[in-house]
Amino acid sequence: MNTVILAIESSCDDTSAAILKNGKILANYVATQEMHRLHGGVVPEVASRAHQVNIVPVVDMALQKAGVDKSELSAIAFTRGPGLLGSLLVGVSFAKAMALSLDIPMIEVNHMQAHVLAHFIDSPRPAFPFLCLTVSGGHTQIVQVNAPLEMIVLGETIDDAAGEAFDKTGKLLGLDYPAGPIIDRLAKQGEVVFDFPEPNVPDLNFSFSGLKTSILYFLKRNIKKNPNFIPENLDNICASVQDRIVSILMNKLLKASKQTGIQEIAIAGGVSANSGLRKAIEDFGQQYNWNTYIPRFEYCTDNAAMIAITASFKYEQQDFVGQDVVPMARYKL
Ligand code: KG4
Ligand code: ZN
Repeated sequence: MNTVILAIESSCDDTSAAILKNGKILANYVATQEMHRLHGGVVPEVASRAHQVNIVPVVDMALQKAGVDKSELSAIAFTRGPGLLGSLLVGVSFAKAMALSLDIPMIEVNHMQAHVLAHFIDSPRPAFPFLCLTVSGGHTQIVQVNAPLEMIVLGETIDDAAGEAFDKTGKLLGLDYPAGPIIDRLAKQGEVVFDFPEPNVPDLNFSFSGLKTSILYFLKRNIKKNPNFIPENLDNICASVQDRIVSILMNKLLKASKQTGIQEIAIAGGVSANSGLRKAIEDFGQQYNWNTYIPRFEYCTDNAAMIAITASFKYEQQDFVGQDVVPMARYKL
């Protein structure tokens, strides 16, 4: 018998639905909410309302693209958390209603676990145990993955996430939200000429708030001397900031690899789309004899395909939830 899973992701500002049939992704449809650009960040209430508008057409599109009728579905999976409560609530409520009407089981998924398991959508897949650096707009973690559903957080950020460091820097530079991809593009035309300090954080934890403050004072100092400092140096500022964010991430990843002896190394999450980070992973891989794994671009940022693949591991264990399930804005791995 076929196993067909419909997965829904609505934790932040992307409404996404995917169809997984017998382990293969047949559709992964994402509706991005462009309106947050105007506000310089995600506005939770606006995001929640946009999910309500998007969810039915997005699920329809995914079913259509996969050529699957809803009567064929074996289960419905959804992101339970972490994320914005109002956004999560839309996906969870939709999944509950659809599961009830079709009389099929529901599978809850942790968004951060799903970012890591995005590596199991395509080949080559990392071998267990592996380390995964998960870097997104809301999270920065190094996770040791012993089995698909067995993950240990070795270190995480004590303040801002890596994506936030990109986005907040962008705000200081007058760039649109989200600034990560814009800084990435501008950095390619610039050179690393400005030195920003590396924070001194113990263990395998990260901190990015000090970097933001040092960039703020650096800009203030230089604008005082030259009001056109930002436009005249934008590419070089972007290259220098990106270089520092990447080196902070890579130094901790190297430390984690040395501490655990694990040389299977993966990256995941929206910031893993960054070309500087992708190159650094490959360079470190050659230097330190790592096997490295970088997901396809569309599976780096938020998507429902990663929710579907995670749900397939839970489906094998018949790990279902009932109608009393509630979303969790904070949801530890
Ligand atoms: O995983 P994701 O799509 O959503 C969250 O769960 O947060 O990550 C979004 C984050 C944003 O902060 C965005 O600026 C960052 O990923 N991002 C990038 C790039 N593409 C997306 N950061 C740096 N370089 C990129 N190319
Ligand atoms: Zn994410």
